[in-house]
Amino acid sequence: MTKYLVTSALPYINGVKHLGNLVGSMLPADVYARYLRSAGNDVLYICATDEHGTPAELGAQAEGTDITEYCAKMHDVQKEIYKNYDISFDWFGRSSSKQNHELTQHFYHQLDKNDMLEEVETQQVYSKAEERFLPDRYVEGTCPHCGYERARGDQCESCTKVLDPVDLINPRSAISGSEEIEIRPSKHLFLKQSTMVDTLRTWIGSQKDWPTLVTSIAYKWLDEGLRDRSITRDLSWGVPVAYKGDVRKGFEEKVFYVWFDAPIEYIAATAEWSEETGNDWESWWREDKGANDVKYVQFMGKDNVPFHTVGFPVTLFGSDEPWKKTDYIKGLNWLNYYGGKFSTSSRRGIFMDQAIELLPSDYWRWYLMANAPESQDTSFTWEQFQSTVNKDLADVLGNLLSRVLKFCASKMDATIPSVTEYGELENETTRVLEEKLVRYTKFMDEMEFRKATAELRSMWVTANEYLQQAAPWSTIKEDISKAEISIKYAIDLIKIFASLSSPFIPNASKTMLELLGEKPEFTWPETFKDALGQTKAGEKITTPDILFKKIEDEQVEEWITQFGGE
Ligand code: 2FM
Ligand code: ZN
Repeated sequence: MTKYLVTSALPYINGVKHLGNLVGSMLPADVYARYLRSAGNDVLYICATDEHGTPAELGAQAEGTDITEYCAKMHDVQKEIYKNYDISFDWFGRSSSKQNHELTQHFYHQLDKNDMLEEVETQQVYSKAEERFLPDRYVEGTCPHCGYERARGDQCESCTKVLDPVDLINPRSAISGSEEIEIRPSKHLFLKQSTMVDTLRTWIGSQKDWPTLVTSIAYKWLDEGLRDRSITRDLSWGVPVAYKGDVRKGFEEKVFYVWFDAPIEYIAATAEWSEETGNDWESWWREDKGANDVKYVQFMGKDNVPFHTVGFPVTLFGSDEPWKKTDYIKGLNWLNYYGGKFSTSSRRGIFMDQAIELLPSDYWRWYLMANAPESQDTSFTWEQFQSTVNKDLADVLGNLLSRVLKFCASKMDATIPSVTEYGELENETTRVLEEKLVRYTKFMDEMEFRKATAELRSMWVTANEYLQQAAPWSTIKEDISKAEISIKYAIDLIKIFASLSSPFIPNASKTMLELLGEKPEFTWPETFKDALGQTKAGEKITTPDILFKKIEDEQVEEWITQFGGE
């Protein structure tokens, strides 16, 4: 049993996320966590809402709500939605927690003590109309790199380049649209990232098998020469620049930058979990307290990679304390909507609250993971969604279940037959499935989820082909024991498939076990052969309602009209 710490990028508090966000970090993290748990590991899956910074303030302002209330409300809204998608967090915390305030200030203190911080007079965008500074997303304008006209002050959504608000061409206030803007000086704390280039290079160089997407982004940053980075902002909402109650002189009106405190929340959320459950959190995070044995895997979209390969590691290394660093980063590309971007600001695409009203979570989970943007950006289309659901879930898996169990119900008194030995066809099928299981498990270990879904589907297909060849509906006419062998074997397969499918479609997997009269517990099989024969002869089965409904052409047309298509 290995200890696995799994985190997915913290969703900003402002509003419900779209399907691109879901498949970009949380869903693959959940699939992986579920896989690891079923294989008997000790898994801790941590996430939280990212509640500071301009996204939070702008969200509250847009609603005309007080920011504290807004964050509390939106945290609950998001938590409920993730539950509807069966995201199996062990803890879903809040970056505004007291634990995160304390830890963020602790890291600040350590970095300050280790001469990793410097006060620098900077030039900031100031709105004369609003009489305030406009950091990060408070300013919008044209990206100086790619010309995208709605680039935000912190990062260009189009080319992913990290920006400084003063670089934007034609800057305007994101609150009022006012262009009455000037540049004013303001003192900020800079983290001396430039002193850490060698440490980071050695650290990244020593990682095995990180995806090229991740290492190429990290090396690009290191090769371009790391600049020191401001970790404070002229804002009032956030973690105060203080330690043990003492505010840093000259920083009374400032807070830490959201990207400084957000990754620290991975640790703080574990401490929140610890306070709630009584479990120890340091054994997950402190190398001097057992975390050396932990395998830590982070999931995120590609825009977050620089902050996790450079920013956060600098905080951890710079503290000069033995904090656990990530062992693997699974970075994902974008899921687009008909070739264009999903966009939260212009509500383009389909959002998590809308999707779940149309169909239950398994449909989305399967489609999204089968088309996960792993090696490149992929596109959501309703037509492809329909075809994936109908072919894989309804025609292959659903059909297998329905044929086997309905036959057992009508011809075998809904009772699992007793069989002493399988024949040649069964043994041959097992041999084929054994090879597929080896490949499937390898893909899951390597977090190659698209390949994994293809392999799993091909196991379902093999089972269908077996049934077709064994043809119990014919053999039963001459020799009932032959038909019993086929049905018992197929039922054994269904039980094994329930566990194997559970990371992707946990609800259908649970139903599969319940139909066989089994407890809904998933165990990843070591070998197919050993996992066979574990359903109980004599046990009553239940015939299924339709496991997956086919998506009709009319539905697709309706959804395209509702959400937009090509
Ligand atoms: O890009 C985002 O959505 C950020 N809220 C991700 C934060 S991840 C972590 F570092 F907290
Ligand atoms: Zn750009």
